Amino acid sequence: MPNLKKYYFPSFFLAVLCWLSVFLVNTSFVGQSALLYDSDELRQLYSQPTEKWPKPHIDKGVKFEEIGLLPEVQFPENNSFSKEKAALGKALFFDPRLSKSGQIACASCHDPDLGWGDGRRVAFGHDRKQGTRNASTILNVGYVDKLFWDGRAHTLEQQALFPIQDHLEMNASPEELEQKLNGIETYQKMFKEVFGSEKITLYRVSQAIATFERTIKSRTSRFDLFLKGKQDALSDTELLGLHLFRTKARCINCHSSPLFSDNQFHNDGFTFFGRTSEDLGRYLITERPEDLGAFRTPSLRDVVFTGPWMHTGTMASLEEIIEMYNLGMPQPIPESAKDRPLLPKSSPLLKPLALSKEEKAALLAFLHAISARPQSINPPDLPH
Ligand code: HEC
Ligand code: HEC
Repeated sequence: MPNLKKYYFPSFFLAVLCWLSVFLVNTSFVGQSALLYDSDELRQLYSQPTEKWPKPHIDKGVKFEEIGLLPEVQFPENNSFSKEKAALGKALFFDPRLSKSGQIACASCHDPDLGWGDGRRVAFGHDRKQGTRNASTILNVGYVDKLFWDGRAHTLEQQALFPIQDHLEMNASPEELEQKLNGIETYQKMFKEVFGSEKITLYRVSQAIATFERTIKSRTSRFDLFLKGKQDALSDTELLGLHLFRTKARCINCHSSPLFSDNQFHNDGFTFFGRTSEDLGRYLITERPEDLGAFRTPSLRDVVFTGPWMHTGTMASLEEIIEMYNLGMPQPIPESAKDRPLLPKSSPLLKPLALSKEEKAALLAFLHAISARPQSINPPDLPH
């Protein structure tokens, strides 16, 4: 029998040494993992093709696609692109005659000069009645799977029919609207050119509007230029922001893919549960407990121009949003609501981040680097 004692002592010693080194590495370096690379190393690493970038910090089970350049928008087979159809859609999008009052166009709440949103906390529509949610931008909607904050519309064609009939928005009745539009001669000509007959139906209206919307895309950001090989398009701070976004700050767990959205629904801590402005989001559509307070991850492209932010429109500064993520998006439940059978839970992907002041500034700089001011466009002359 070998003398075990002889082996025991050194291996015990080795184990303590290993533990000590793991402890030291964890406490003194991991908190600053982003700073393990200096600026030149980060630039070198991120100048490689995206497959060779440092490994992102994503949790198990997360649906992941790397951020990058937006591909071409796909037009569906049953509503293919034509220039004439997009032009007709644009006219309809800017036409207030689509509303009962004749005063409110889609563009009233999705204004190109306001990042294709309305710059307000929540929108107002017919009779200046307030809605309950922030008007989403329509930038890049051609890449979105399920539309609205809660994903209740499955296609842009279907989506367009909601605001037209919504009492708080355009408040039009389908029959009256079809009748009104059929009386406009230039529209008859345009519909005939696009659809083969001059009959104006709400279905065709929605097809034309959806085609126009699919052409509303972000312009090239400095991040895009960097990916296309323009080495000096991003500053050192912005590059650090990019690295943090993918690693220590964990944003990429949800804001992934070239859209900077996973097109999934998460509880980001913004339910206002138990208060007057409570909004349970996707749960109101699916009635699945796991969807309680979940909203679709918005794209972050051009985010600098689409405030105020969140489905509530209550966040007026990106600094504050970064600070809230840094704290792990706490979601206090008021005493009065604690007994309710279902309580919303923030996504387990949200954790306190321990970002330094410098790191928060770098993240903000990166949000600027993925934002390009939307192209200003002139409203078209309205058909008569
Ligand atoms: C009175 C303001 C108002 C008007 C008018 C309006 N919208 Fe909206 N729009 C909103 C609000 C608010 C939301 C978000 C609502 C929600 O998610 O529940 C929204 C959401 C959308 C979305 C979803 C975007 C996304 O990322 O999910 C699209 C697309 C859209 N609107 C297109 C249109 C079109 C097309 C029209 C005209 C037919 C129109 N809107 C008219 C306020 C308006
Ligand atoms: C758990 C998934 C998740 C993670 C992780 C996450 N986000 Fe979000 N983000 C969301 C969702 C969902 C919303 C919309 C929430 C709402 O309105 O209720 C959102 C909204 C935002 C908005 C507002 C956008 C708008 O158009 O209103 C910004 C800015 C933002 N996130 C930045 C970040 C940054 C920066 C990080 C990393 C520090 C991050 N997010 C991490 C899911 C996430």
